[in-house]
Amino acid sequence: MALSLKKSGPTTPAEAFVLAEGFGAGEALFEELDLEFGPGHWRAISIEEADDIFADEEETGVVLICIDSDASEIVEASAEAIRKANAAGRLVLLVVGDLSPRVMHRLMREGVAEFAPFPEPSGALQEAIGRLRVKRAELLRAEAVVENQKDEPKRLGRIIGVYGVAGGVGASTFATNLAWEIALETRKQGMKIALLDFNFQYGSVATYLDVPRREAVYELISEASTLDQTGFDQALSSYQGRLSVLTAPRDALPLDIVAPGEVGAILNLAKEAFDFVVVDMPQALMNWSEQVYSASEVFYALMEIDMRSAQNMFRFLRALRAEEMPLEKMIFCLNRAPGLTDLTGKTRVKRVAESLGIEFTHLLADGGKQVMNACDQGVPLAEVAKSNPVRKEISRIAQGLAKEIARKTAKAE
Ligand SMILES: Nc1ncnc2c1ncn2[C@@H]1O[C@H](COP(=O)(O)OP(=O)(O)O)[C@@H](O)[C@H]1O
Ligand SMILES: [Mg+2]
Repeated sequence: MALSLKKSGPTTPAEAFVLAEGFGAGEALFEELDLEFGPGHWRAISIEEADDIFADEEETGVVLICIDSDASEIVEASAEAIRKANAAGRLVLLVVGDLSPRVMHRLMREGVAEFAPFPEPSGALQEAIGRLRVKRAELLRAEAVVENQKDEPKRLGRIIGVYGVAGGVGASTFATNLAWEIALETRKQGMKIALLDFNFQYGSVATYLDVPRREAVYELISEASTLDQTGFDQALSSYQGRLSVLTAPRDALPLDIVAPGEVGAILNLAKEAFDFVVVDMPQALMNWSEQVYSASEVFYALMEIDMRSAQNMFRFLRALRAEEMPLEKMIFCLNRAPGLTDLTGKTRVKRVAESLGIEFTHLLADGGKQVMNACDQGVPLAEVAKSNPVRKEISRIAQGLAKEIARKTAKAE
């Protein structure tokens, strides 16, 4: 072990650490390393230093272990060094001089990323270092991806279904404004909100928020089985940069263009990327409706006080019971509810609720022309009719949802 170690200066982090104590062709090797890595970019280290360097997270350089002796203590020390380097996640290049096949086999089995004889044949070390560099770059890239994923906060992924039992009862107005109010309510917490229009035929969310219907929506829906996060992102429009919107496609599509599994896949992608996902459902019950209902944490069912709504609600509830769907997540809302002073109206509400066996959790007043105007202009009520009673009630509902999350988070901590 007479070889003097060539210290290549303290420039850190080094690209390579070289264990070459006792290696006969040491000087020629170091010259070669100067050419490959550049002087100062690699470091010769002793076996005693190795532990500290492997433990140092700043030092991510590859490890060259050089050996040209069959002597058992040298072989064992090298084997130990390979093991430790591997345990520290370092890539190992084994550089061998004149070795017996038995020893070579012994060392290779410890797990080396690359292998090169030295000094002959010439060029072999250079090539091995090249391959090692590629492997290291891949490794660093993979680690960076994992690191980025760690940075990306885990999203709450709460799905909120919205369903109108009859056409025109205000489901899309409710869904759109609820999504926007949640976005306003949670903006300080950096939450991400999405609104998905699952009425692939006549969805009106694009109109109510005046956002473009992207070409990619068609692909997303018609090829949902091959869906990925990129395809999903491309299909989303944005309202004021704060609400992501999946509009209905430009051309009306049959509602059964998506299979239940595909709806499930869309919902899963949305859950991963967003904290709240409001889903505006079509009035027709589809084979995938159950999918959305099951995935939802809460499901708002809207109706009006007229006979048409009452009859549809009756049938809807009967369908749910027949499928043995749990009704606990259902929140019944009466839209265009009669005002407090309308006594006959109030009696009527009570009677309808009783006959259906439900309770209305929210009564939304008739908001008059302001509501239709906001919808037609493509802006949420909060922007143009802040004090409208419909807006106020939906804002209260959003506050309730945000508070519930805050309570749950506090409990979890
Ligand atoms: N509470 C309300 N007061 C006044 N107008 C409303 C109210 N709710 C909905 N509207 C209006 O009714 C029309 C139909 O509403 P929409 O949300 O599209 O119904 P749905 O999605 O259930 O078919 C829209 O023009 C909307 O502005
Ligand atoms: Mg609608």
